[in-house]
Amino acid sequence: MDMIAVAIAIGFVLFLLFLLRNPFSTSSNPNLPPGSLGWPLLGETLRFLASQRANGGQKFYEQKIKLYGGDIFKTHLLGSPTAVFYSPEGNRFLFSNENKLVQSTWPSSVAHLFGNSLLSKVGDEAKELRKLLLNFLKPEALQIFVGRVDSIITDHVKRFWLGGTQIKAFPVSKRCLFAVACSLFLSMDEGPQQSDLYRHFIDLLNGMIQIPLDFPGTLYRKARIGSNHIREILQTVIEKRRADLASGSASPQQDLLSFLLCNADGHGNALSDDDIKDNIMLLLMAGHDTSVVTVTMLLRHLALNPDCYQKVLKEQMEIKKEKEASQVDLLQWDDLQKMKYTWRAAQETLRLYPPAGGTWRKAIVDISYSGFTIPKGWKLFWTTSSTHKNAEYFKDPEKFDPSRFEGNGPAPYTFVPFGGGPRMCPGNEFARIVILVFIHNIVKNVEWDLVNVNEKVIIDPMPAPVEGLPINLRGRSLTT
Ligand code: HEM
Repeated sequence: MDMIAVAIAIGFVLFLLFLLRNPFSTSSNPNLPPGSLGWPLLGETLRFLASQRANGGQKFYEQKIKLYGGDIFKTHLLGSPTAVFYSPEGNRFLFSNENKLVQSTWPSSVAHLFGNSLLSKVGDEAKELRKLLLNFLKPEALQIFVGRVDSIITDHVKRFWLGGTQIKAFPVSKRCLFAVACSLFLSMDEGPQQSDLYRHFIDLLNGMIQIPLDFPGTLYRKARIGSNHIREILQTVIEKRRADLASGSASPQQDLLSFLLCNADGHGNALSDDDIKDNIMLLLMAGHDTSVVTVTMLLRHLALNPDCYQKVLKEQMEIKKEKEASQVDLLQWDDLQKMKYTWRAAQETLRLYPPAGGTWRKAIVDISYSGFTIPKGWKLFWTTSSTHKNAEYFKDPEKFDPSRFEGNGPAPYTFVPFGGGPRMCPGNEFARIVILVFIHNIVKNVEWDLVNVNEKVIIDPMPAPVEGLPINLRGRSLTT
């Protein structure tokens, strides 16, 4: 190629880069937080995703904070200029300014996949929908389901844990907690329909936090197809349920689906079938994998920390004895209130391996924070690792130490696995029930040790032990 052709090619590339240059460049907005917006269009997304996978993004954030100082930096992630907030003060700022300065938002990949669900609602609409969902998810409403959760998990432990010598705890727990969610949300028992649903959920989860490239073969395309299959299955379930409710063979209180079909929001508006499908898909997604990660990593921590394990064991065996004496088989709400140490151990697991590393807000006006201006329209990201792994708030942060949650527990806005403010996770009580009932059933029935104590954990998009946490099992009745 002659020199003129090379010069034209270079000129063309530079011209393209000029056209694609970020409209939020520092030169036109001198008071932006420090940081780099990275490459045109891509920003720093690839670096961010790689760091997410390796260590939940912690290295990516820490390098920036070290470089720029302060508790905020700018970057460009998943298609949007983004300010990352990195302190308890930043968490407080974002959580307490919902609908005043910021609103909840999700990357376009997630927002599109979950259609008309709570994730895409803001302001009054979000408030009404959350109220409706919380009528099912609040502690008073969930109490009646504790026995049903226990019965499903008891059956699962009998089938997959007792009598086994080695299992992979992560995938086995996944099927179990998916069955729990299917029962409480849809009264769907294990069987071909649940297996289909499960398969499509795996595709949905794997493609959720991706650049939304909708081409054959991309993870995002698979996730989109998976979400459509899930909607088809849910539509069949809705139609059958509507008929069963009309004939009296289903009850309005039996599960989330009945509840949504029989109740309206505070303005008297009932949800459409499409809204019900999108919201149940969201709750199934948000509700089961997060708890699976927590129980799996808790099993790992208990195996690695014999002192903590002994305390959990003592607590759970006392409850087991009380149950045997009272001759009431299944766990009830009051039993869960006695699992104080076990819940602290679960909280410590959520600190070390939060299922969600952070979420997004969007600036609805120009925002001033820490002497910087964040323009209206920018995304704002808070992260769990800014505080969960910071020695200033959690001494010796890599150490598993449930006693951190005794007394008043961690300082405000430092322990935030469920987020905060008006968009805080509405499923935290559901998660607590499922986690405690699961651990009770495992601890009272089996002993376990890790096949590989050095097994690596990746974040994809949630923490996952790469080998699926293989464990050796011994039935407790044989050893105690
Ligand atoms: C250990 C378990 C769980 C963890 C760590 C977790 C964490 C989170 C986090 C960090 C958020 C974002 C909060 C924010 O932006 O401030 C969230 C939102 C949400 N979670 Fe959870 N979650 C868990 C379990 C559940 C369960 C069991 C359900 C449903 C049964 C659920 C349903 C939701 C929903 C619907 C949202 C969106 C709320 C909104 O946009 O207003 N989560 N969760």
